[in-house]
Amino acid sequence: MKLKVVIILTLVLAALAVGIVFSNTTDAVFFDSVPWITIVAAGLGFILGVARALLKGKEEISYGEVIRHGGGSFLEHWGTALGIFALLASGILLGFLFFPGIMKNLDTTPFPLNIHFVGVVVALLGGFFFVGDYIFSRKYDRLIPNIPDIFGGFIGKYFLRRKWSSEDKYLSSQKVAFLGFAFIGAGILISGAVKVAAHIWPIDADYWAFFTVLHDLFSLLFIFLLIVHVLLVLGLREWPALFSWITGKVTEERAEEDYPVWHKELKTGKRRGYKLLGYKGVSKVEK
Ligand code: HEM
Ligand code: HEM
Repeated sequence: MKLKVVIILTLVLAALAVGIVFSNTTDAVFFDSVPWITIVAAGLGFILGVARALLKGKEEISYGEVIRHGGGSFLEHWGTALGIFALLASGILLGFLFFPGIMKNLDTTPFPLNIHFVGVVVALLGGFFFVGDYIFSRKYDRLIPNIPDIFGGFIGKYFLRRKWSSEDKYLSSQKVAFLGFAFIGAGILISGAVKVAAHIWPIDADYWAFFTVLHDLFSLLFIFLLIVHVLLVLGLREWPALFSWITGKVTEERAEEDYPVWHKELKTGKRRGYKLLGYKGVSKVEK
């Protein structure tokens, strides 16, 4: 896994570096000259994600360690995250809402706009790779919380200090956070898509202004959620989960303690069924 991490990280960082250097050495505005690349990136990511879902091996316990992440999940999380970091940096350079832009001279340099474009391409590739994989893996309850997750595993556990022992591969609180990421991500994507379209077709100024405010508000919410996400990892000292992004594994002991439902599934080969209001029985795990 460590070698895969190095290769994926090198490829993503190299793609970003080439994009950023190219952004600064051209007068062209990528959103104007090659907007179709954004659609190709999303489509390619989705197809590769579907292929991964259909081809990936089984999660298993081996010699006291549990395989938690493969190279594909690393790319989904960190590839998308690196693209988003480029989006955040260029967004700050461009300025939004009441934050003044740092590089406002867009007439003389399209640099920050082009970095935004590069970030969009990398984030769409990684993000849609995740979407394709997630939809076709058909384990929706892995990341979508149900009512007990929200009230027992999030509000009860963290705010009322109640015991909660139904943690799956991702903690109930992580599932709630995922819902937040998905909702805000969809808001940014839809408003961003309209702004990309505005580079291709004429659009009413009022509509453009409306979607710009929407894009910026969702961006602000995203920054807030990202800070909470990172602070929770660091504050709750989720080191095993953090290191598992690099090693791909956690110890079986840790899996049993922190993720008992997932551990049981790996041991027995049977998975709990999912209902919005609770859990229904168990079913055989599909590969
Ligand atoms: C976390 C993700 C993102 C953040 C934080 C972000 C933030 C921003 C900010 C701050 C601006 C400058 C203010 C404005 O014009 O609204 C901007 C502009 C823009 N964004 Fe994003 N954005 C993100 C993702 C996206 C995505 C996914 C797309 C495309 C689907 C996109 C497309 C655009 C476009 C086309 C512009 C306008 C460029 C222009 O001035 O013509 N953004 N974004
Ligand atoms: C734009 C950036 C990022 C996005 C969109 C993102 C999103 C996610 C999502 C959706 C998950 C799955 C479960 C959950 O919802 O918590 C996750 C897990 C995780 N993230 Fe992030 N993340 C980002 C950046 C980071 C950063 C900078 C760190 C470093 C502290 C980090 C550390 C983790 C860890 C440790 C996990 C849990 C892994 C596991 O349980 O095995 N993330 N992230």
